[in-house]
Amino acid sequence: MRKIFIAGNWKMNMTHLEAVDFIKDLGYKFKNKNDCDVAICVPFTDIESIKKTIKNINIDIKVGAQNMFYEEAGAFTGEVSPKMLKALSVDYVIVGHSERREIFGEKNEVVNKKVKAAFGIGLKPIMCIGENLSIRESGNAEEFVIEQLAECIRGIDKKNISSLTIAYEPIWAIGTGKTATPEDANVMCGAIRKKIGDLFGNKIAEEIRIQYGGSVKPNNATELMAMTDIDGALVGGASMKVDDFLAIINY
Ligand code: 13P
Repeated sequence: MRKIFIAGNWKMNMTHLEAVDFIKDLGYKFKNKNDCDVAICVPFTDIESIKKTIKNINIDIKVGAQNMFYEEAGAFTGEVSPKMLKALSVDYVIVGHSERREIFGEKNEVVNKKVKAAFGIGLKPIMCIGENLSIRESGNAEEFVIEQLAECIRGIDKKNISSLTIAYEPIWAIGTGKTATPEDANVMCGAIRKKIGDLFGNKIAEEIRIQYGGSVKPNNATELMAMTDIDGALVGGASMKVDDFLAIINY
């Protein structure tokens, strides 16, 4: 039985001061849950303050980063390494978000290196894949997403793959208020799971968690989470509003 996994992605929002206020506010109302894992993926500059605040108020929320480079150290001005994140006891790292792909030109090959680097140091990657509107409208979304998946997980060790989280995020649904219908999202997540089964076997396909992301809100979380192949959500905008994020966690 897969446990639901709700992760927030704050993107480039919240100074560390705002982040601490947010976590304190959330902490008053948050009840630890057994049936759902919760994480917040924050800007690098927020990680240490957030970790301390979560520890002080003793709530079970994991912290993730939103990106990293794949090399361990060296002359890569402006980059942050897996080792640096591990030293901050970060649990998760988002890789291959569509904003990294579209704005910063990140290719599947780079995403693949990042997934391997994350596993190499014991970070759990949340790997994003998803099609844009023109691909969706051309009817080739599934083929595109499955190819993206195959390229991004190429050569990953079988022992690691079930601790990968895959986030299916159709680009046309991100920040637009347009959500994929739960049925359409479920069909894509089912196709992703089938491909994992073809590559790694049915046991791993049954274990791996596949999130949906793209305009997840309190009013659509319940029906999305009810879908057989959707195991959680990667939440952008609504993860920065305490009451909305809590409502999604308690979908
Ligand atoms: P929104 O929930 O704001 O649409 O963002 C989704 C997303 O990109 C999460 O990674």
